[in-house]
Amino acid sequence: MKIIRVKDYQAMSEAAAKIISEAVRENPQINLGLATGGSPVKMYKLLVADHQANKTVYKDVKSFNLDEYLGLPQGHPQTYHTFMHENLFNHIDIKEENIFVPDGDTKDPKATAAQYEELLEKNQIDLQLLGIGTNGHIGFNEPGSSFQGKTAVVDLTPETITANARYFEGNQDLVPTEAISMGIGSIMRAKKILLIASGANKAKVIKGLVEGAITESLPASVLQNHPDVTLVIDEAAASLLSK
Ligand code: GLP
Repeated sequence: MKIIRVKDYQAMSEAAAKIISEAVRENPQINLGLATGGSPVKMYKLLVADHQANKTVYKDVKSFNLDEYLGLPQGHPQTYHTFMHENLFNHIDIKEENIFVPDGDTKDPKATAAQYEELLEKNQIDLQLLGIGTNGHIGFNEPGSSFQGKTAVVDLTPETITANARYFEGNQDLVPTEAISMGIGSIMRAKKILLIASGANKAKVIKGLVEGAITESLPASVLQNHPDVTLVIDEAAASLLSK
């Protein structure tokens, strides 16, 4: 595991944006796995700025998002579909038909999840971006999720619902309780993984991820088994690491 330690959120965003934009320039047909949450917001802004300044081309890039809430109507401001369009896709030249986000407004969530998994089996992800939940989740694979897991309908833990209430007027009752998420097995098939984390509230899980046991109770610890993982973490997130 390669660990890049940087000063703060801004530096984390710059380092991660550099890795992604260089990967896109190196392989204009890259399959990107993308993530939502607060962590990548600034990084996406920098990718947009890079697209405008350096003409990094996304027209042959395919993107596959990690997860989506279940039960929010299409166009709801808090769907990850909306998040991705507002933060990135609307501002670069990626083609709409090359954008894949699980459909959270489906009538048959299980079938939708199975179709998404099939899509991922046909399109290996070259570079998968991950954030990390304060409980160690990746995508929406909460503690206890199987390391072999495929894309599936998942329940969100109370901790995740509390953490994400900030995007829903601070009201936990408005946060969906289920999502469709790539499984840990699906995530682990990516050729390369880039995980970003910032802030003291991530320090404990970052320590567990880097130095702890590989255990399903800390989903991100599975990354110790992946051959090509880069962490970009800021000082606060790295503060509990022993070296
Ligand atoms: C969300 C997402 C994850 C994200 C995580 C951390 O619930 N499903 O993909 O990595 O929580 O979010 P943040 O970056 O806002 O801390």
